[in-house]
Amino acid sequence: MNYFIAANWKMNKTIQETRDFLKSFIPMTGGITGVDIIVAPAFTALLAASDEMKGSAVQLSAQDMFWEEKGAYTGEVAPGMLLDVGCSHVIIGHSERRQYFHEDDAVVNRKIRAAHKAGLGVIFCVGESLDERESSRTFEIIKREVEQGMVDVDPYNLVVAYEPIWAIGTGKTATVEQAQEVHSFIRKTLRDIYGNKADAIRILYGGSVTPENVDSLMACNDVNGALVGGASLKSESFYKIVSFKKEN
Ligand code: 13P
Repeated sequence: MNYFIAANWKMNKTIQETRDFLKSFIPMTGGITGVDIIVAPAFTALLAASDEMKGSAVQLSAQDMFWEEKGAYTGEVAPGMLLDVGCSHVIIGHSERRQYFHEDDAVVNRKIRAAHKAGLGVIFCVGESLDERESSRTFEIIKREVEQGMVDVDPYNLVVAYEPIWAIGTGKTATVEQAQEVHSFIRKTLRDIYGNKADAIRILYGGSVTPENVDSLMACNDVNGALVGGASLKSESFYKIVSFKKEN
């Protein structure tokens, strides 16, 4: 199973900055094997990114989408539009969407089902806040988010990203033990839903991943990749992450 490492650029980079990054980054990735590399620029830069990625193994993701196919939904973007611009994936349920745009588990589930129906691969995000961790509710929150997110969802064309909210953009990474503990809990929760098929679902870690900590995180049993914010904005830094040192 390949690792899966995705850059989530959030609300960063113009069209030109996107092109410049990819012109520098894509040639670096030629020798990398065993890693699926995905980049998720802002909506406005997807077309330019898709153009730069042609003929390369780097794949394109959007950071969000709406569940309807078309119609009077001002400001929204449909799954088919993402396919049209060249996306193979879409991030759904990021904690910033849940926090600032009030997306709940039902909305996240609806979006995941719509993405799958359109044929998009889904990067499904879950994670607890600092309050929730400190009040020992981590497993309860993760279980709820995974179970509700996966209602009527097939376990294919899907990765789950564990992003503890307290580790996002804070420089405070989960320890290897903390990551492994939650990842193995997510694996168990997925097995309860899907049986053996759950073992093919890659579980990514996200939250202050850097070139310095990526090797130890990727060495955890149930960590199958990373979702990277800040450290994915510079091509050299993201290259160091996707070329992390694999064990054995
Ligand atoms: P940082 O890597 O900046 O902590 O962001 C993580 C994240 O939210 C990726 O989706």
